[in-house]
Amino acid sequence: MNRPYNFSAGPAAIPAEVLEQAAAEMLDWHGSGMGVMEMSHRGKEFISIYEQAEADLRELLAVPAHFKILFMQGGGLAENAIVPLNLSHAGTVDFVLTGSWSQKSLKEARKYAAQAHVAASGESGQFTSLPPAASWELSRGASYLHICSNETIHGVEFHELPDLKALGSDAPLVIDFSSHVASRSVDWSRVGLAFGGAQKNIGPAGLTIVIVREDLLGHALPACPSAFDYKIVADNQSMFNTPPTWGIYIAGLTFQWLKRQREGELTGIAAMEQRNIAKAELLYRSIDQSQLYLNKVAPNCRSRMNIPFFLRNEALNDAFLTGAKERGLLQLKGHKSVGGMRASLYNAMPLAGVQALVDYLHAFEQQHA
Ligand SMILES: Cc1ncc(COP(=O)(O)O)c(C=O)c1O
Repeated sequence: MNRPYNFSAGPAAIPAEVLEQAAAEMLDWHGSGMGVMEMSHRGKEFISIYEQAEADLRELLAVPAHFKILFMQGGGLAENAIVPLNLSHAGTVDFVLTGSWSQKSLKEARKYAAQAHVAASGESGQFTSLPPAASWELSRGASYLHICSNETIHGVEFHELPDLKALGSDAPLVIDFSSHVASRSVDWSRVGLAFGGAQKNIGPAGLTIVIVREDLLGHALPACPSAFDYKIVADNQSMFNTPPTWGIYIAGLTFQWLKRQREGELTGIAAMEQRNIAKAELLYRSIDQSQLYLNKVAPNCRSRMNIPFFLRNEALNDAFLTGAKERGLLQLKGHKSVGGMRASLYNAMPLAGVQALVDYLHAFEQQHA
């Protein structure tokens, strides 16, 4: 089936193969007589789905054995509270502000940490670049430092995670990788905890993935709800409460799909990373070469996943979106806080979809020259 290309920032496109398999298994999963949504999370059928999904994610992202993978509920915004409830020790926590999502995280952490300190901020430049790590003012003895490694709204991405040890800090690095999880490899030697909602690169909304270093478990504040205490969740294999079973199942199918991806010699995440670089380069090049479109982000930190762009003549915005929809290019409207357009190029977006968008950008510009 030929489907339109969906550029939504999330919930976002899911690979057609995954949806087709889920549809085929909807009424009867593997001869069990049950659909996955109807199964007990403690039955052997679901346990096998869960274990496979966890093992595949560990393999794909090369997650070391001393990290726990947790499948939780609550989304990225709940993690903004759950992280300080578990990791702050009610002390000082540091934040690097690079856009709307890290700002929201800071605001929430202020409720739980004794002090939430802004180590650096890109706000004065309207979040069009990342403050260089050498300029960060790190607190001595901070419980952790939080960054949003890909800002979905402002379109800035840390292409390399900061090395806090090299900056003289022992604080664990917390990353919100909601909008680029599984799009590239992760250097776990630099990470204490990573969290992200599934609904952009992995599956449906409702599943939250947390990957946390074991030594950070077991320090939750007394007020932390049991269902959100990472140690309790880890000790119960993410089944202290009923986990988001459907989300875990679809994520598992997506992980299998990821493992099948190939680019030349590369497979899995390495193949995706190369494809994502090629997709983003194609679109940025087309924007930069045009007279009509504009992306304001510094080239060294442009997101490969979320590409905001503006029409220099904003009166053409509606015509642009209408024409895009007619061509089967969906959900290109920018976030309401920044306006303009945004193309999200998650893993499920093929290069052909980006090429179709680039062709449209060109045709629309010619038509309105
Ligand atoms: C980077 C980032 N963090 C957090 C969130 C919030 O996630 P949720 O809506 O799942 O709580 C989003 C949502 O778009 C996001 O892009």
